[in-house]
Amino acid sequence: MPTWAELVFLLCAVGFILALKGLSGPRTARVGNLVGAGAAVVACVVPFFYADLDHVALILVAIVIGTAIGAVGAQRVQMTQMPQLVALFNGVGGGAAALVALLELEHFADATDVGVDVPAAYLVATAFTILVGAVSFSGSVVTFAKLQELMTSRPVVPPGLAFAFAGSLLAALVLAGVLIDEPVVWVGVALALVGLLLGVLLVLPVGGADVPIVISLLNAFTGLTVAAGGYVLQNTVLLVAGTLVGASGTFLTLLMAGAMGRSVANILFGALKGGSTLGSGEASDRPVRSATPEDVAILLGYAERVIVVPGYGLAVAQAQHTLRELVEVLGARGTEVDYAIHPVAGRMPGHMNVLLAEAQVPYEQLKEMDDINGDFRQTDVVLVVGANDVVNPAARTTPSAPIYGMPILDVDQARQVVFLKRSMRPGFAGIENELLFEPQTTLLFGDAKDTLGKLLTAVKSL
Ligand code: TAP
Repeated sequence: MPTWAELVFLLCAVGFILALKGLSGPRTARVGNLVGAGAAVVACVVPFFYADLDHVALILVAIVIGTAIGAVGAQRVQMTQMPQLVALFNGVGGGAAALVALLELEHFADATDVGVDVPAAYLVATAFTILVGAVSFSGSVVTFAKLQELMTSRPVVPPGLAFAFAGSLLAALVLAGVLIDEPVVWVGVALALVGLLLGVLLVLPVGGADVPIVISLLNAFTGLTVAAGGYVLQNTVLLVAGTLVGASGTFLTLLMAGAMGRSVANILFGALKGGSTLGSGEASDRPVRSATPEDVAILLGYAERVIVVPGYGLAVAQAQHTLRELVEVLGARGTEVDYAIHPVAGRMPGHMNVLLAEAQVPYEQLKEMDDINGDFRQTDVVLVVGANDVVNPAARTTPSAPIYGMPILDVDQARQVVFLKRSMRPGFAGIENELLFEPQTTLLFGDAKDTLGKLLTAVKSL
């Protein structure tokens, strides 16, 4: 590789690191994203100028098709469908890394046939890339199917799953050992097939609320396969990019698991022990106190301190702009209003921050859970807009609840709590929320955009 190409790759690697730094804060995230994407484009273009490439026309056609699918997919996808898009893109990355490793294996096999000794470290990295890339691909496809509701999102635990998983893992290790001993293409293909099976078996028993965490874990897997691929191909930019993805995916997985009060092992294998990661999902028919937008407007009109808790339903209703307007009107009336952001509110990390930033809500009004939890005790009204699990006291009180141990927003300590939701259906974890039946709670039924609009009109006319 010429020195100029090495230097450009170094700059691309720096670009990836700056991108991650930018993505760590809402003000710089957009620029960070563009820097990362720009570095990726440059890294893809550079080989055309120094490498002796075969099938250039085919490569260009593949790039055009991939770009078109990626661009149209990313434009069309709803914000709430972002996790499944990430799963799909991630799976494609893992699959591509595995295919590249299989091609390299063919070169290694040819080299061995003519008596050239291939270093064992290359073969280890190749076996790893084939296996983990295949796991990442099939696992991501299953997570996509679960989140897109192409199949049930509940844990699927067919009889003998644990044995099948252990057997496949053993077969994968044996095949990898054979491949490291001698590079033979069919062994690599068999390893890839076992990897595909392992990916499916790994994700099938993971249910509902845990699927996004598995996406993050598979993302880390893909990063590691790309890094190993970079080592095999002696390509530094792949090595650096893969390591960054692997490390950040691992951190994200651990942070999300921590925010849900679970261990990664429990998330992956909890269902094998017979525990369900989801409740029944049935709507309750117990009586609750409901009110009209006008009643709630009066409540808000008298309040000095209000906290808004946004959740997944706000994203579904796309009511963020109306909510921002309501908060502005209340602020103009002298009410102190903040937004309380739970780390796993919504369906992806930072979901609420992104949603509210889109509606131009000032960042300083967004308060993290740990910073605001002490304030609920002095709060007159909490407006829970399309959130449920993240305020469900069962996380503290009910050891059998799937969310038990998850830190929650202490909304139950406020004087009045108003839930904006459409029905008595539970949240993502599928369990009833006792807070809905407490004396301080009022329900304002309807689509959040519609009810917030009516609430806004009513508050304006106070
Ligand atoms: P959820 O517990 O899922 O509750 C969402 C609520 O929004 C439901 O009560 C639903 O009730 C209501 N809703 C839905 N559409 C609505 C609409 N158009 N208008 C008004 N209300 C609407 O949400 P949450 O409190 O944000 O909790 C997030 C859940 O996702 C947690 O269990 C969390 O562990 C899980 N999770 C999150 C992440 C990340 S990283 N964010 C990752 C994995 C899992 P109705 O149907 O009655 O309207």
